[in-house]
Amino acid sequence: MKYNIKNFTLEEKFRLLIGKDLWHTSDANGKLPMVRMSDGPNGLRMHSPEGPEYKSTAMPTVSALCNSWNPQLTYTNAAVIADECIEKGTDILLGPAVNVKRTPLCGRNFEYCSEDPYLAGVMGKAYVEGMQDKGVGTSVKHYLANNREYDRNHITSEVDERTLREIYMVPFEFATQAKPWTVMCSYNRINGLYASEHRWALNDVLRDEFGFDGVVVSDWGATHNAMRAVKGALDVTMPYEERHYNKLKEAYDKGWLTEEEIDARVENVLRLVERKENADKIKKQEYTKEQRHGLAAELARECIVLLKNEDDILPLKQKDIVVAGMMALDPPMTGGGSGFVFTEHKSQSLVELLNVNLENGGKARYSEGLWNTAKILINGNAIYRAAYGADVTVLCVGTDSAIEGESFDRETLRLPLFQEDLILNTAKVTENLVVVMFAGSAVDVSPWIDKVKAVVYAGFAGEGVNEALADVLTGKVCPSGKLSETFPLCVEDTPTGMNRGNGWVDRYAEGVMIGYRWYDTKEKGVAFPFGHGLSYAKFEYSDLAIEKLSETDYEVSWTVKNISDITAKEVSQLYVRDVFATVERPLQELKGFTKTELKGGESKRMHVKLDARSFAFYNVSLGRWYVENGDFEIRIGASSRDIRLIGKLCIEQPENEQYSQF
Ligand code: GLC
Repeated sequence: MKYNIKNFTLEEKFRLLIGKDLWHTSDANGKLPMVRMSDGPNGLRMHSPEGPEYKSTAMPTVSALCNSWNPQLTYTNAAVIADECIEKGTDILLGPAVNVKRTPLCGRNFEYCSEDPYLAGVMGKAYVEGMQDKGVGTSVKHYLANNREYDRNHITSEVDERTLREIYMVPFEFATQAKPWTVMCSYNRINGLYASEHRWALNDVLRDEFGFDGVVVSDWGATHNAMRAVKGALDVTMPYEERHYNKLKEAYDKGWLTEEEIDARVENVLRLVERKENADKIKKQEYTKEQRHGLAAELARECIVLLKNEDDILPLKQKDIVVAGMMALDPPMTGGGSGFVFTEHKSQSLVELLNVNLENGGKARYSEGLWNTAKILINGNAIYRAAYGADVTVLCVGTDSAIEGESFDRETLRLPLFQEDLILNTAKVTENLVVVMFAGSAVDVSPWIDKVKAVVYAGFAGEGVNEALADVLTGKVCPSGKLSETFPLCVEDTPTGMNRGNGWVDRYAEGVMIGYRWYDTKEKGVAFPFGHGLSYAKFEYSDLAIEKLSETDYEVSWTVKNISDITAKEVSQLYVRDVFATVERPLQELKGFTKTELKGGESKRMHVKLDARSFAFYNVSLGRWYVENGDFEIRIGASSRDIRLIGKLCIEQPENEQYSQF
């Protein structure tokens, strides 16, 4: 290693374990370069030296990217953000945030990936690779079990080990394979112990089992006691506060903390500085602001999910098209808090963009339903009258950064009531109603879904979202997104309902049964299932083949055919079912997927490799992942509820590898 720890005084070593200020690591009295960190997973949110944030490109949020089911897209998205970091001088971007979506009410779900740990892990890993291949570090956050904002600084997430291993640790396990420079610990306690002091999580699992060799940094203000944090294998407490230095000095002077314990943490910080210096040699900015915006729009196109399309009302081909709702002019790009990106880009009106694309004499016009500052509709009449006379009406509604953001959770899954009224009242005067919806997490659409013919879910897809929507709504681009989280029929149907724990403990009583695992196993109806997304094309699935490579390794293949006459992309999903298990397992679990572009009439063979982990559950009695002999199903679907092909196999490992099996 370039830097020898012997060249640093004890005082300098204490300083290396706490920030220099809000955003930098210590320079150890000028012996080291500082490492600059900035938020936020959805674009660079960097404070200028004078204080206000620099303006940056608002890229599609991670939740929207996950709806693309395209890891390459996430890789590119991260690379574009890295480019802006290089331009403005940030060494580490504080992202990706890979917390699994346990409840759709969580305020920060717009920053998170999915209700499924496998999908979240694949996308989180791609994000780290995209960012770090450009020479900018990452901070995979928020480790661990930080799945709602409610009282996040104090509450204990009480989670059994099997659930931690099979659900909440998996995205960090996958992302760690990409060698992230840092992992950020969360604010909350895990089973009574603050994440910033949790040696089992931060060291025994993250480092010794997952192989993480970077720096564990605290969330900002998450260190409650710097001495216990060092003992808990936290490396750097952020941001600077002199009380942390005083605590380290006191603990050392009293013999509570040894120099050996200090050095174990300092070594990681010195390695981080070296990583930064090596990266500085390869960093290259390549995009202009305009190019970054163009990429934001291009990437957003694959994030859009067509949830409903009755009578093929889309793509728009009608003559007289009314567009209403202020979000058509000013669409929400991201949620609130540290993940919010200050962009100087003013969205182009969806109406103007539609008119650029529309052919056959189609014309879009905007109907100005007046909105007061509280965004309350105060003049729907104009919209209703316009809709009554039009061939089709497109209403733009959704949540925004005031409803979804850091430090608070949603109180409801429904849209603001005036937006529901707008939909329901417009539906009284026209049956040709299309809803474009913006949100960072699942919405309860049940009050109005049967009254509209089509729903296009844009997510929070950044500053290029209106360009992307215009292309999808007019068929210039065929929608290919699929939901990375279930849209339930109501919040009461979710695994946690409105329950937020008893005020100091939030018990994960549902265990591994979250998201589709919960709805499938409890046989609950849903509004739109995990993995659901329509296309303007149609696809046929056939010829499932399962090639056995070993007792627990298989090559699965199947054919997808585009039976329409337009080019389109299709995400097909592979779920594994352990038919008889001696522990309770979900009905099925996502273990692979492919996304492929197919021309009209074209067929392609899909391939997914399965290994032991694809069949295993975490056996806490054995303290390891464990494949139990028996029958398994391989289920290929266009969504978790649209299973097209099912294959069966039986695993029969030798008895000396089996325990108390079914
Ligand atoms: C915030 C967030 C974290 C962010 C950090 C720095 O509280 O929890 O995601 O990176 O502090 O702003």
